[in-house]
Amino acid sequence: MVPKETENTNRPVTVLIVDDERPIQEMMALLFTQEGYHCLTADNGENALAIIQAEPVDVVITDINMPGLSGVDLLRKGQEITSADFIVITGYIEDFSYETLIAEGASDFIYKPISNKEILLRFKRVLRERELLRERERINRELEDSNLKLKTYAEELNTALTDLKSAHNELQSAYLDTINRLALAAEFKDEDTGDHILRMSHYCALLAEKCGLENRMVQNIRYAAPMHDVGKIGIPDKILLKPDRLTKQEFETIKTHTTIGASILSNARSEVLKIAHDIALTHHEKWNGKGYPKGLQKTEIPVYGRIVGLMDVFDALTSNRPYKMAYPTEVARDIIKNERGASFDPQLTDIFLENIDEFLQIKKETGTIENLSPADLQWSARDISAGIDRLFSLRQ
Ligand SMILES: [Fe+2]
Repeated sequence: MVPKETENTNRPVTVLIVDDERPIQEMMALLFTQEGYHCLTADNGENALAIIQAEPVDVVITDINMPGLSGVDLLRKGQEITSADFIVITGYIEDFSYETLIAEGASDFIYKPISNKEILLRFKRVLRERELLRERERINRELEDSNLKLKTYAEELNTALTDLKSAHNELQSAYLDTINRLALAAEFKDEDTGDHILRMSHYCALLAEKCGLENRMVQNIRYAAPMHDVGKIGIPDKILLKPDRLTKQEFETIKTHTTIGASILSNARSEVLKIAHDIALTHHEKWNGKGYPKGLQKTEIPVYGRIVGLMDVFDALTSNRPYKMAYPTEVARDIIKNERGASFDPQLTDIFLENIDEFLQIKKETGTIENLSPADLQWSARDISAGIDRLFSLRQ
């Protein structure tokens, strides 16, 4: 007969018969060998322990009453050195109760006399329980391994994600840094500092937020607004920085900073740069259609362009420029109010005026507010030629 193998190790199932009565020992050895199991025998407990120590045994079937080490002693000591199951057989039921032997660690308890058929059935039940236990242990080990692998995988994923986030943040920061430098390059042509583009970023994001635009749009305008005048790179300094009134031709040249900016920012793949393109092109359009370069009107002008247009004028009015001094807050507010529905989207103008203190706070934190009184104001030649002075109701 082909030897029966243990499920996990492919070695034959090994049974150790321990009985001091040789005929019983031989009869049982024959029984198990015929059934295909690897069978070992011992006459007493001491020999049985030596065998258990020397080779793997799956099930020990032992008599209780033997000279020397009893079956119960073998059960106690054997469990310290093997994971084998113990089936205890006795003809003296008064010595030990079933409960006591099970409590000692026996897997089964058999009374003599017993038929071969019943011994085999009991043995196979113990063997089956043993295999099920091993199977459960194997599944538990696999589960633990899987959990460990999952945990390691999750940790690796987390690390990779952190690295990716860090790389993304670095890239995002490098990207924003680059576009800010591009904007600064244009701004340094007619500004002493980069404060204008910084304020534009804050102003436009604040107005977009006050208008109820969704957060993504607010962030887009925050990053795109500083690039509104990038096209100034293409305007000669002698025109850009001219303090006097501009000729018609010079003004036409100035106007091209919108289309130059748009072409610098054209065909971009990033959402922010696409918006920056629209802003560069439309931030001088007017609500009444009298702006440039296309003469768009009302909502034909993208909301980003309308917001930047309004905030650009507010910042220009309240800042010193090579061709003009900063206007007092009251003057700037009055000019913007007068342009409601003309240069500027009426709704945006109202929201701006309602919240002007918050915009002035940004101005205070990024740059300086000139403490000029309206009476001290000197209109520049450019202001007068553009008719800005006529918009201010406090004019003497
Ligand atoms: Fe501009």
